Amino acid sequence: MAYKYVDDIANIISEQVDIVSVIGSRVPLKRAGRNYKGLCPFHSEKTPSFTVSSERQSYYCFGCQKGGGVINFLMDYENLDFITAIETLADQQGIDLARYLAQTDEPAKDYSKLYELNRQAARYFYRAMKQSEKARNYFKQRGLSDETVFHFGLGFAPDSWNGLIHAMSPKFSLKTLEQVGLTAASKGREYDRFRARVMFPILDLRKRVIGFGGRVLSDQQPKYLNSPDSVIFNKGYHLYGLFSAKDYLGPDKRVLLVEGYMDVISLYQHGVKNAVASLGTAFTEHQAKLIRRFADSAVILYDGDRAGQQATKRALAIFFGLDFPVYVVTIPEGDDPDTYIVKHGQAAFEQFVKDNMTDGYTYLLNLAKQDLDLTQISGQRSYLQQALTIIKPIQDDMIKQVYLNQISHDIGLPVEEIIRTPIKQPAPASKADDFRATLLSLLLQELDVTKQMRQHPFYDELPGAWKQLIEFIISENGYNIELAIERFPLDVCAVFDQRRREAVSPKDRQNWPVLLRQLLVEQIEQDIRRINQDQNLSQEEKLKQVINKQKKIALLWNKETQ
Ligand code: CTP
Ligand code: MN
Repeated sequence: MAYKYVDDIANIISEQVDIVSVIGSRVPLKRAGRNYKGLCPFHSEKTPSFTVSSERQSYYCFGCQKGGGVINFLMDYENLDFITAIETLADQQGIDLARYLAQTDEPAKDYSKLYELNRQAARYFYRAMKQSEKARNYFKQRGLSDETVFHFGLGFAPDSWNGLIHAMSPKFSLKTLEQVGLTAASKGREYDRFRARVMFPILDLRKRVIGFGGRVLSDQQPKYLNSPDSVIFNKGYHLYGLFSAKDYLGPDKRVLLVEGYMDVISLYQHGVKNAVASLGTAFTEHQAKLIRRFADSAVILYDGDRAGQQATKRALAIFFGLDFPVYVVTIPEGDDPDTYIVKHGQAAFEQFVKDNMTDGYTYLLNLAKQDLDLTQISGQRSYLQQALTIIKPIQDDMIKQVYLNQISHDIGLPVEEIIRTPIKQPAPASKADDFRATLLSLLLQELDVTKQMRQHPFYDELPGAWKQLIEFIISENGYNIELAIERFPLDVCAVFDQRRREAVSPKDRQNWPVLLRQLLVEQIEQDIRRINQDQNLSQEEKLKQVINKQKKIALLWNKETQ
């Protein structure tokens, strides 16, 4: 019989842990009315908009709109997974989690067998490499020393359909091999997935083997074959080489982000030991957070071709989103970090990086300039639009100013003019919007609409919470965040905050009576259901009340035609 935490372990922890003390020990907080406030740890700001509610045990940032409960905070702040966050909190608060373990029929989530299998497989590939002259020559020809090969655990999968299956049995079942993707099946027959390839074990931070990449020795296709995702291998959550690179970040704590396994290894071979790569998939936010956990900045060194540019842009957007310092170096066409350092050596590589390192925003601005003629009005216009979009997410005023000066210099237009230029929004994709959301946006943004709602003949039928908000807005002569935080729960204010940012179209504005009617009709229909289910009412009384409600609905529909 296996054990697992009881289902509501998250609630139990949330109830026992005070969010104010957990956040307060990491972020300086000051009392503000019935909440606490501080500078948001998730984006850079000078005036506190990060708010923590003790009552609701929740937090919300009115600047970057991050919010949630204590577990969620810890997951984001320390980049932990759900269970680790719970265990960390329990540890810190002296909560004995063992009491919340329940027996379960589900199989135990003990993956040690899978890690062990992968480790044994890596050893098998390593031995096979030692015995294969072809494989040893391949690494030699790519300039890798025995030490480097050993450091990364590189190996070779012989050209056999079942060499690994045989070597792993009987200790590991076929099913276990299949679980980590070391085998593949065709017509019900299992065979070794990796054949005649040099092998790159992928290690997690605890140096456990979680998967493999296998490269052909020739220039056959596909060049690389990777383990599929498995219960112990989620490609978006790991970085190739980080297990080692994290120990070589140097005094400025910098990580180099490259495209390939071979880039990481070859740079290491030449003394540049702080490179990591994603795992044959697009760079993810989780990977960026992983980098943030160890480093103070990142340098992206992707190919200069179109695909490389696109990948660079996507990675930049992710780093910008985390407000993490990021730079770009474009390797000359035709080379990658591996071929460059093999040709020119460590010193030249490091000099090249130093001379060509551009911060992320400048890189994007340069890219925008590339195909434009900035001596022409049309080119200037187009550049200005792109440039404003690029720098829009920058939170820090001083940093923004630097780029505004740069843009001003680029097109010879004073900064004041640039600031005044409206960004042309691309036409919003029409979406089947939830009418509640639109209605809420309307009353939070348009005081006169709210006042008209207050005058609606069926106003009293509205749900209590809506009436409360409408009264509040009218009494304050418009919605006011500061006062709302005093009056409404923080998580509700968070929803208001988001709705206030949602643009409302003139059509929605005009349409408010229809939206309000929809809300009323739904509310009344809900009342009818409640009446029908009420055990304390006689049939007669039920009928009377229901008819009364139905009349209101009928009247509401008629009102529309007036
Ligand atoms: N990749 C992949 N599948 C492919 C090609 C590439 O998963 N068919 C991934 C691998 O993670 C690879 C990375 O994309 O490391 C970058 O590809 P590439 O630059 O072609 O590989 P290198 O590592 O530079 O390999 P090499 O220098 O041996 O060609
Ligand atoms: Mn390469």
